[in-house]
Amino acid sequence: MSRKPLMAGNWKMNLNHVEAAGLVQNLAWTLKDRKFDPERSEATVLVPYTDIRTVQTLIEGDKLPFSHGAQDVSTHESGAFTGEVSADMLAKLNCAYVVVGHSERREYHGETDEVVNAKARAALAHGMTPIVCVGEGLDIRKEGRHVPYTLDQVKGSLAGLSAEQVGGLVVAYEPVWAIGTGEVATPDDAQEVCGAIRGFISDEFGAEAAAAVRIQYGGSVKGSNVAEIMARPDIDGALVGGASLKPEDFASIVLFYEQ
Ligand code: PGA
Repeated sequence: MSRKPLMAGNWKMNLNHVEAAGLVQNLAWTLKDRKFDPERSEATVLVPYTDIRTVQTLIEGDKLPFSHGAQDVSTHESGAFTGEVSADMLAKLNCAYVVVGHSERREYHGETDEVVNAKARAALAHGMTPIVCVGEGLDIRKEGRHVPYTLDQVKGSLAGLSAEQVGGLVVAYEPVWAIGTGEVATPDDAQEVCGAIRGFISDEFGAEAAAAVRIQYGGSVKGSNVAEIMARPDIDGALVGGASLKPEDFASIVLFYEQ
């Protein structure tokens, strides 16, 4: 089974909708200029809620070779949840992907594996692909507990999903100490945990789900370090923060296969 690599740009809380239009056009132009082949890798941009409509209109209107998605979603279907955005609303804007359980949400908004699980279910119920984020902090890494700790997050975040659902989603392994710090996990570090995640999914959901699920690495990925990370067998893409705001750098990540 061949898994198409997925390069996802997580813009975080950057760029208003006017600036978003500029970045999308710039990225599209850069990918075209560099002869991006969408058969070889897949690209998506995960943008702030207020940018989604603008980005969707550009991508669909100009048939750009990437998709768009959101960075979070409510666990609730609808109702009295001031400030929340539902999966139905995101699906109506043709979001392909939804990030759930990013470490910044786990840390600043107290999201537990149960909440992350409910968000993944909400996305799946509306036909979107969740990008389920997991990963350890520096203290856990120093204690050498990063593998069991991360597998525990995977277990809680995917609890009760079917093998088919797990095979179709994306897990992003992002060691918290490598996010936005310039500190990249070595390819061996990334492979160790991504391989363990695939092994765990095989045990819990079966070999077919394990062969199909895409596992990304995230944490200070750039054009200059992506190729060696992607050379590892269990790494199927990258969740990219800072570098996704720079069209040339993000294009180099999407075009990793040329390096
Ligand atoms: P970074 O962020 O690439 O800026 O380290 C990654 C992420 O948080 O998804």
